[in-house]
Amino acid sequence: MSEPITFDGRVAIVTGAGGGLGRTYALELGRRGARVVVNDLGGAVDGTGASSSAADQVVTEIEEAGGEAVASYDSVSTEEGGAEIVQTAVDAFGKVDIVVSNAGILRDKSFANMTMAEVDAVLDVHLKGGFNVSMPAFRLMKEQGYGRLVFATSGSGLFGNFGQANYAAAKMGLVGLSNAIAIEGAKYDVKSNAIAPIARTRMTEDLLGPLVEMVSPELVTPLVVYLCSEDNPHTHQIFTVGGGRYGRVFIGTNNGWFARDGGPPSVEDVADHIDEIRDIAGYVVPGSSTEEIMLLGQMLAG
Ligand code: NAI
Repeated sequence: MSEPITFDGRVAIVTGAGGGLGRTYALELGRRGARVVVNDLGGAVDGTGASSSAADQVVTEIEEAGGEAVASYDSVSTEEGGAEIVQTAVDAFGKVDIVVSNAGILRDKSFANMTMAEVDAVLDVHLKGGFNVSMPAFRLMKEQGYGRLVFATSGSGLFGNFGQANYAAAKMGLVGLSNAIAIEGAKYDVKSNAIAPIARTRMTEDLLGPLVEMVSPELVTPLVVYLCSEDNPHTHQIFTVGGGRYGRVFIGTNNGWFARDGGPPSVEDVADHIDEIRDIAGYVVPGSSTEEIMLLGQMLAG
């Protein structure tokens, strides 16, 4: 059994922490000693409206449990909002050790009917929201030589989903951002991971069908809090978490097929070898694009 994991002396920002999953992360981090910035715009699922009550309520819950927290009502969707959220942590608690980039909205529509306004709104909150908060936080983390970031991705992005082209693209973008931060942060003990949750919240309660009673947000919380801890040595990973299942999603590559005989193969050669090209037996999971290029080099060298 591991030693108890605590966050004494740590400062955490949780975006979108006024409800749903973010609230559970903020409460658990607070309960374990972190000082928490509870950020939430307090709008509707589609991102319209705003209110301070969601963030205030969670701050009160943390304080009533004996923890320390401050509210932030800024939107993650602008550069100024992101900077302000990080500044709130610095002003209240002196630093930032942890960022859980969790705020999110939905503007679902079949791709044929989607408008660019619906694309922009979703990219602004999820993808640019990820950048707007993590960029100023990363600079501080690099300086202090410590940081933990967790980005909320989604099965919609990782695997695809009907009616969510905007959301899926934003969520995959966050995987790219997390991977890049993990590589650039490695020598400063800054670790970055992505989690794809499945949980009952206002965002999903109408979509989960018979699963709805089995996927409480609290079943996601322990993995996220672990990834935020000093004890976590893992970075550059994607985890899937919901309903009591804790697993990993990975992006790997296979051996593929080598066209070794002289010049480029014909289109028909590719057609003839398409099963080999697609066969994932013996895949590897490269730690970076450089590593993938090195793997190719090894293969070319025979
Ligand atoms: P939720 O709607 O309960 O929570 C999202 C929170 O983000 C809300 O409190 C909302 O007010 C806040 N928010 C929205 N726009 C904001 C902005 N511009 N600035 C600051 N706060 C803002 O939904 P849930 O389910 O808790 O979602 C949390 C994260 O997990 C989201 O990123 C979502 O996409 C992701 N996710 C959730 C899944 C689930 O099964 N619940 C599945 C896959 C991903």
